[in-house]
Amino acid sequence: MGNFRAGILGTGHSYPEGILTNAELEKMVETSDDWITSRTGIKQRRKAAPGEYTSQFAVRAGRQAIERAGLDVADIDLLLCATVSPDQILPSTGCIIQAELGCHKAAAMDVVAACSGFLYGLTLADTMVRTGQSKYALVIGAEILTQYVDYTDRNTCVLFGDGAGAAVLGPVEGDRGILAARIKSDGRYEEQLFSPGGGTRRPATAATLAAGDHFFKMKGNELFKVAVRSMTDISREVLEEAGLSATDVKLFIPHQANQRITDGVASKLNVESDRVYSNIAMHGNTSSASIPIALDECVEAGRIKQGDLVLMASFGGGVTWGGVLVRW
Ligand code: ACO
Repeated sequence: MGNFRAGILGTGHSYPEGILTNAELEKMVETSDDWITSRTGIKQRRKAAPGEYTSQFAVRAGRQAIERAGLDVADIDLLLCATVSPDQILPSTGCIIQAELGCHKAAAMDVVAACSGFLYGLTLADTMVRTGQSKYALVIGAEILTQYVDYTDRNTCVLFGDGAGAAVLGPVEGDRGILAARIKSDGRYEEQLFSPGGGTRRPATAATLAAGDHFFKMKGNELFKVAVRSMTDISREVLEEAGLSATDVKLFIPHQANQRITDGVASKLNVESDRVYSNIAMHGNTSSASIPIALDECVEAGRIKQGDLVLMASFGGGVTWGGVLVRW
């Protein structure tokens, strides 16, 4: 391995223009703005229009990240697209994005780890860059989750939204870069969040479609507890690995699933709310896109400066979880 780390050189994000508000959901299922706001923190989410698809937003986010990194599309030699809502089964959305962006040198593939997908991608890309297998990696999280949401199920339909975020990784010297990255999973919790239909186990038929088997099913309050525990534990793990503590963290960017999950993790880590980023009110849960959208919003707002320590932690279906600690 070389005498360098992988650092984040540029970020970008993109989302649909369409907005679905809590008031509109009140007309679709038995819910209320008051319930959604107090139980989740969500006020609105972005919703793709018919005909819009995942790679369109991924390409916009990816192009912006490459430009802001000061690179050319031809420099990218690894392209990872984290998604659970791909354009289609084959080829990967990563390959579709690769062609659209013109990153012809890049190995491209999808990472399927639900809301942890972006941190899974960052962790893999970090290893590839540090070992010299890749020089410049583009990691994208992109989702059109509203296609997988059952708008008759109030337990899930209020939570999810659409969008894409991206980051370019490349070699950096000195103290900067990814200091620690950890990813984990436990498949025994499969049925806490899953979409059973449409694969080889339950192939799509008129009956599975009519039963809504292709929609997300979720045991929300069970997931809630696992989410708080696993995001707290993995945050502590990456901090310990880097020999740092939560007091050193300038900004904590958790996966945006529920404001109460964010508050629970932040309180267990002793990170006050002014060091925690939240955009859940505007975006809801965009799965693998949530952390890179949040990261780019923070960069654009000037909330992250060179030398700042940024902690990211995620949790999602699988179940999967991850933590990445980066010195900007
Ligand atoms: N409007 C009104 N009432 C509702 C709604 C709604 N939208 N949804 C559920 N309720 C009702 C329930 O039916 C239940 O009623 P009951 O007591 O009569 O049975 C009551 O509210 C309480 O339900 P709980 O599920 O216990 O509510 P909870 O406080 O746990 O909040 C929530 C539910 C928001 C889903 C929460 O559990 C949560 O955020 N869980 C984590 C979910 C998550 O993060 N999932 C994504 C993982 S990321 C990924 O990989 C995509």
